[in-house]
Amino acid sequence: MTSDVVVVGSFMMDHLVYVERRPRPGETVRGLGFHVSEGGKGFNQAVAASRAGVTVRMLGRVGDDDLGRRFLNRARIEGIETDGIGLDPESGTGVGVPVVDESGENAIVVVPGANDQFTVEHLMAHSALVSDARVLLLQREIPESTAVRAAELAKAAGAYVVLNPAPAGPIDAFRGLVDLVVPNEGELAALARGSNVLERARSLSALLGGCDVIVTLGPAGVLLVTGEDSRVFAAESVDAVDTTGAGDCFCGNLAARLSLGDALASAVEYAIVASGIAVGRRGAADAAPVPEEVLLRLQARQRSEGDDEGRDDAALATVREG
Ligand code: RIB
Repeated sequence: MTSDVVVVGSFMMDHLVYVERRPRPGETVRGLGFHVSEGGKGFNQAVAASRAGVTVRMLGRVGDDDLGRRFLNRARIEGIETDGIGLDPESGTGVGVPVVDESGENAIVVVPGANDQFTVEHLMAHSALVSDARVLLLQREIPESTAVRAAELAKAAGAYVVLNPAPAGPIDAFRGLVDLVVPNEGELAALARGSNVLERARSLSALLGGCDVIVTLGPAGVLLVTGEDSRVFAAESVDAVDTTGAGDCFCGNLAARLSLGDALASAVEYAIVASGIAVGRRGAADAAPVPEEVLLRLQARQRSEGDDEGRDDAALATVREG
């Protein structure tokens, strides 16, 4: 029953809209494309981890409706264990509306529906599934009490707990329960004080009781802070098509590689390459790559690493300034 990665999180059926630019208030614009696909931060991360080649189980709640059944089916196709996913008789399946502009940037509305009904009681009915995780992966799209209880169960059983605090919001209740927190720059700014990214990352670590921190900085790369040490990893250079779920792809791949025993730095390198591939494609979960694709690019990246040493130092200076 042991799973390499257990995701306790959300399901949102994404209705992706592609536009040249997002409308201003009161304005109507013509869209360039539309696509419906399974998403939600939890589901995207579960798919990314499963495609990375590890065993994944997801716990959460969908509606007892067509969209909910579509999720169960898609999870099985992706090789994700579904025995911890409940069907809510009252609320419909969560829905997301990502609006993606020409530069690949997104803005998202979610209507959580059944995700909001995923209670501690539902979780506890499957507590053994959480306790058997190597890595537990959490976000903030389900009730906080449920996510915190999952962290307590996993921590007590000796699992490694990763929190992606997205969307940003209070995380004090996770203090002492998290081994690694992975915000993006905006989430970090909302959660911690400091005059630059490095200071804010250190203060976020202190807030959570001293965990490691990884900050995803988009084209500026990724900052890793462990204890007194910090390191910036360069981003992949890509033409962004759709950034929806890029952070989820990063987190899912990171968790997968950590569950396989990678050191943090190697897992970060792998996850950067994987999410770099994903932003070059449309969709969220749909865009996650498989190891064959990642390893090819990772080898090329490692070959050019000598040339890039100065780039990492320059990036760290940027992080210290802003
Ligand atoms: O992180 C991207 C995800 O956020 C989308 O799939 C959307 O559903 C929202 O949950």
